[in-house]
Amino acid sequence: MADVKITVRKNGSLKIEGPIELYDADGNAFPLDPSKPAIALCRCGASKNAPFCDGAHKECEFTSEVKAPVA
Ligand code: FES
Repeated sequence: MADVKITVRKNGSLKIEGPIELYDADGNAFPLDPSKPAIALCRCGASKNAPFCDGAHKECEFTSEVKAPVA
């Protein structure tokens, strides 16, 4: 099993669990709290705390349900 698990949440963020580093397009690192077991990245584009999810997807009624192929 991989060290990092990414979950595409229904109508919401990407939940990322595991040891990661997160950078912007200029190569600058976002500070992450190593004591937190997971982070959530915005998928809807409405977060005021991008790239992190701040719950704004609920207000903008973002809808997206992505399913992995069933083997
Ligand atoms: S996915 Fe939560 S604020 Fe965008």
